[in-house]
Amino acid sequence: MTHRTTQHTEKNLLGRVALVTGGSRGIGAATALRLAREGADVAVTYVNGKEAAGDVVRAVEALGRRAVAVRADAGDPEDAAGAVTVAARELGGLDVLVNNAGVGLLGPVETLTPADVDRVLAVNVRGVFLTSRAAVAVMPRGGRIITVGTCMTQRVPGPGGTLYAMSKSALVGLTKALARELGERGITANIVHPGPVDTDMNPADGPYAPGQAAMTALGRFGTAQEVAETIAHLAGASYVTGAEFSVDGGHAA
Ligand SMILES: NC(=O)c1ccc[n+]([C@@H]2O[C@H](COP(=O)([O-])OP(=O)(O)OC[C@H]3O[C@@H](n4cnc5c(N)ncnc54)[C@H](OP(=O)(O)O)[C@@H]3O)[C@@H](O)[C@H]2O)c1
Repeated sequence: MTHRTTQHTEKNLLGRVALVTGGSRGIGAATALRLAREGADVAVTYVNGKEAAGDVVRAVEALGRRAVAVRADAGDPEDAAGAVTVAARELGGLDVLVNNAGVGLLGPVETLTPADVDRVLAVNVRGVFLTSRAAVAVMPRGGRIITVGTCMTQRVPGPGGTLYAMSKSALVGLTKALARELGERGITANIVHPGPVDTDMNPADGPYAPGQAAMTALGRFGTAQEVAETIAHLAGASYVTGAEFSVDGGHAA
């Protein structure tokens, strides 16, 4: 039997500008490249990964698109909004926002300190709110907001996830409320819930990996590219809003 693979080359996003937060590595970097392949110019934010963000910029440019890297800590209120200002100024507007930057702090509930709670909520929740708020101020009709949640908003398979699951669950409410508020402006908001995905945050050869893979129906980790595929689809979709998408190998099944 012959198996054929097809490379998706349709330029659905030609002429559009996207901002991907946390775009220097992992799911964010794969998303930046995927959006560029579909024709978008792309801004990425990073905190420590200046060199990696530069590599993403060069890879986007090699695809014939414009790109810019912006150092912006999603946990800092000024940076969270400022990333939108820089992206729109450098690339000429903003059509697609991918709220991808996030931190995963796991541990028994009694070990998580008030400072841990503040930091995780600042990056995973307040940052997403403030970046989205800044984005909708400049987005034209047809704008798209895609937020990265987690499969743990749907099913928490074991202990240690209180803070992370709580923070990401807030993004479901934000997404639905944004969809209702922005619908009349033709702007959509959706959320993608990855399952275990092989990145620096959650390596497929890490100590907890076998247990996570076993929780999925497909019995394996996903790749950053497999998540990016759904994000890119939503960047081009016109009649989908307020919706949650599991890209989790069946973790929630
Ligand atoms: N991997 C998984 O299994 C999994 C599963 C479900 C959901 N997710 C979610 O998917 C998203 C991406 O995760 P990933 O696995 O790709 O992580 P990753 O490989 O650790 O990459 C994280 C990216 O976010 C950036 N970042 C971290 N903190 C930031 C901050 N405060 N402000 C701005 N950027 C920041 C990092 O930039 P620097 O390079 O500068 O550090 C990097 O580009 C996160 O929201 C995560 O919660 C991941």
